[in-house]
Amino acid sequence: MMAHQITLIPGDGIGPEVADATALAVAATGASVEWERVDAGARALAEQGQLLPDDVFASLEMTRVGLKGPTTTPIGGGHQSINVVLRKKLGLYVNFRPVITLPGLKTRFDDLALDIAIFRENTEDLYAGLEHEVVPGVVESLKIITENASLRIARAAFQFARRESRKKVTAIHKANIMKLSDGLFLKCCRQTAAQFPEIAYNELIVDNACMQLVMRPQIFDVLVLPNLYGDIVSDLAAGLVGGLGIVPGANMGDHHAIFEAVHGTAPDIAGKGLANPTALMQSAALMLAHIGERDAAKRLKSAVASVYAEGKHLTGDVGGHAGTAEFTDAVVRHIGG
Ligand code: NAI
Repeated sequence: MMAHQITLIPGDGIGPEVADATALAVAATGASVEWERVDAGARALAEQGQLLPDDVFASLEMTRVGLKGPTTTPIGGGHQSINVVLRKKLGLYVNFRPVITLPGLKTRFDDLALDIAIFRENTEDLYAGLEHEVVPGVVESLKIITENASLRIARAAFQFARRESRKKVTAIHKANIMKLSDGLFLKCCRQTAAQFPEIAYNELIVDNACMQLVMRPQIFDVLVLPNLYGDIVSDLAAGLVGGLGIVPGANMGDHHAIFEAVHGTAPDIAGKGLANPTALMQSAALMLAHIGERDAAKRLKSAVASVYAEGKHLTGDVGGHAGTAEFTDAVVRHIGG
């Protein structure tokens, strides 16, 4: 069988450490993956004079699938975030974040087995960046909601629900106040829901959704949200299961998908062998499922879960004493076993 070629962007800081660890874990699954390594971020800027060199796009154009570690966005100098540029250039309109309890990890909700799939619209809303000063002391920021973008994120959420046999999709909004913009988003979600009659559909106002997520997170299944609420609610939800160091993420469009850890470059521990590769390994599991290596994806995911359940080889950020290598060895052992 032909190997799947995947673009690997190790990134900056702890990026290369968690990327190497993840590549070892993916190799252990036996999935036929061939990495094409390209640099983006601070190192690429220093060595090639560009934050996002052309070969990153050339590689993604060919492979269509990427796995990305965290990259530094230099402050000042007019640099745009690499993630924002990739999202725009490749039309990655879905931000997908599964929020799943890791067994044994101490959190406020560790007695629950949470599994919440979040679909955040990735291209518009207040992120359009259309702001201006109307008169001194008055600023206007435009919230753009379109039928096209709302329909395609709703479709992504429902298609996922159907594929994964999930029970319910919840649209989150503030249409009681923003009757036109969030109203349009809801209309598109309802229209899509009608095409998926086997999946339950409900709606929650965003403030109530936040309260419910903190009080009864187990009632949630699949969530679909416009960009800004999605940004906030997905971090809130990550906090329910141990935070951003744990949860994976994906940015997907019709032609490309980039899987990434959502944490940063952790400059305080970079190069010390202490980084926790969990988030990137979980992102790699999503990537494996995406390319059709579903068995390998399952084995990687359950190996990570087993290492947490065992609790003996965890890294410092989650209360353990192991380094990156010891954690990775444990994951690789579980994949083999
Ligand atoms: P950060 O996530 O890098 O660090 C926050 C804290 O979490 C630190 O104490 C760090 O040691 C810890 N941490 C993060 N990931 C960890 C891991 N895998 N294992 C163990 N500990 C971990 O956030 P910060 O400090 O705000 O940002 C640092 C740099 O990262 C900045 O240059 C920023 O631009 C970049 N960044 C990049 C992102 C991306 O490429 N997706 C996302 C967020 C930040």
